[in-house]
Amino acid sequence: MKIDILTLFPEIALAPLGDSIILRARNAGLAEVRAHNLRDWAEDKHRRVDDSPCGGGPGMVLQPGPLHTAITALKKANTRVILMTPQGAPLKQARVRQLSAESHLLIVCGHYEGIDHRIVETLIDEEISIGDYVLTNGALAAAVLCDAVIRLLPGALGDERSAVEESFSDPNLLEAPCYTRPVDFMGMKVPDVLLGGNHAKIGAWRREKAAERTRENRPDLSR
Ligand code: ADE
Repeated sequence: MKIDILTLFPEIALAPLGDSIILRARNAGLAEVRAHNLRDWAEDKHRRVDDSPCGGGPGMVLQPGPLHTAITALKKANTRVILMTPQGAPLKQARVRQLSAESHLLIVCGHYEGIDHRIVETLIDEEISIGDYVLTNGALAAAVLCDAVIRLLPGALGDERSAVEESFSDPNLLEAPCYTRPVDFMGMKVPDVLLGGNHAKIGAWRREKAAERTRENRPDLSR
């Protein structure tokens, strides 16, 4: 898979993708990630890419010109063009799974008040939000999307089962609590059922705890 990120802050977008599982996946050739500075497509000598919003109001809006030239230059016939914005559809694991089957993602990062809407209408395939809060720019959000997608690429995770069993593989259930050694930590014991080796009982316990945790932390899912 190829991923191009178009942003004012390439270092912010790439930093979280430069370590651990994602770096290994990139080094193994599973994902080829590049970040591009939108200012490289600026139209004046000051490398300016934004202007004040039409109709007034605070903040700045990314101009259509540099975005149009950049997206057109980076986009191929097979490219899915995604805009990271708090105005987008909330990202869910099911969508991450679908996106991991794409061959080329071009992730455009919003900044300031957003990007000129004529670009959204003509060049963006979908708008994605990583949550109901506002970041200073879309570069971190792009990194979050890349991490979620790349770890699902075949061969990225050491144990393929972890991608299947984790939270949101069933979109209405969180994962059960997990424990490791020591069995006694400061007087707190690992539940006996997890040490007994009875896999039917362990499965039943995990399903019960998963439901309990979901009711407590995500009542919106257990409705
Ligand atoms: N840019 C700023 N905030 C964002 C969010 N919550 N999701 C995606 N992109 C963003």
